[in-house]
Amino acid sequence: MTPPTPIIGVIGLGTMGLGIAQVYAAAGFPVIATDAHAPARDSARDRMDQALAARVSAGKLTEAARAATLSQLTIAGTLAEFAPCDLVIEAIVEERAAKQDLFRQLETILRPDGILATNTSSIPVRDIAAGLAHPARVLALHFFNPPSAMKLVELAPHDESLTQHINTARQITEKTGKTVIQCPDRPGFIVNRCARPFYGEALALLAEGRTPSDIDAAMLAAGYRLGPLSLVDLIGADINLAATRGMYAAMGNHPRYHVFPALEAQVAAGHLGRKSGQGFLHPAQPGPAPADAAEIALRIESTLINEAHWLLAEGGTTPDGIDTAMRLGLNFPRGPFEALALHGRPAVLQTLARLHAAAPQPLKARYTPAPGLA
Ligand code: NAI
Repeated sequence: MTPPTPIIGVIGLGTMGLGIAQVYAAAGFPVIATDAHAPARDSARDRMDQALAARVSAGKLTEAARAATLSQLTIAGTLAEFAPCDLVIEAIVEERAAKQDLFRQLETILRPDGILATNTSSIPVRDIAAGLAHPARVLALHFFNPPSAMKLVELAPHDESLTQHINTARQITEKTGKTVIQCPDRPGFIVNRCARPFYGEALALLAEGRTPSDIDAAMLAAGYRLGPLSLVDLIGADINLAATRGMYAAMGNHPRYHVFPALEAQVAAGHLGRKSGQGFLHPAQPGPAPADAAEIALRIESTLINEAHWLLAEGGTTPDGIDTAMRLGLNFPRGPFEALALHGRPAVLQTLARLHAAAPQPLKARYTPAPGLA
């Protein structure tokens, strides 16, 4: 007898929740979804249909698949309707108290083995689980925006998450075609943490007088699809600043996560990037690669390699996992461990030593090699 198809719950039907609901529905899972805001509930089916219709128009989806996906979606008006769910994913407001409160209600409704997953970007999973009667059923399933297109999902258990729940959440999510990478319950998980030096070192170069065009052109020449400053322009300098400040605070104000004044100045000036019409580079494109492009790329990649080794040293992940996450989550041409193999350890360590020697005193610790790298 084949086991019944797991039922997925999604709570919060904003940017992420609606996309997450679509991912599981498209893979044939029944999805029960809701939002605290009635207009978000009432418009959810139409919004998902529009997203699916765009894929049909682009030739990426058949009409039959569009109809099949929509038929899996049930919009609920109450949390009691989530009782049959095997896995509930919350994508509500990024506030610890709101997420805890929601999970507290859900654990009285779900079966004892029902999994509670959070899509949080910045709240420790163990903090969301704290105070629940069964914290072992809580873990993070962190999707990337837009969930339907981004292949990566970071799976972050906390110390008490049950292996059985970790495995079940992974198996169900892999059936949607996503690549699920396990990572520790640490700030920024893998991608948002290991990406910090991509922006940070570009801002350090900017502070030293390099132009945004030179910096981005160097990374394009090294195989990156977007340079770091163009990526800030795409994401929004305000979003990037908030993420940088959040990481800096979460990591005890360590200089590896230094908030560079140039980023704060962009936000203060309203030069947020594409959304405001003016960014570090936007609306311009990077010019030709400078003569020292390879040196710039080695510098930025050395700091990416170092950050990845610091994360690795904290446990709960693997070099392969980090590489895959960075390729899929950021469209990087190679992960940090692949970059290490490309450049060789001596070149990376020499680069870090040179940067350490040249850095102003408060920033020297940015370049201290991680235990597994030195
Ligand atoms: P959003 O603001 O687009 O959507 C949040 C939705 O949740 C809204 O429709 C709101 O009405 C609803 N909501 C708020 N409190 C609720 C509650 N107590 N019960 C039910 N519904 C409630 O937010 P977005 O961007 O979709 O983010 C959701 C979560 O996903 C956050 O935790 C965020 O940090 C995380 N995330 C966001 C990413 C992004 O790029 N936007 C990427 C990865 C994670």
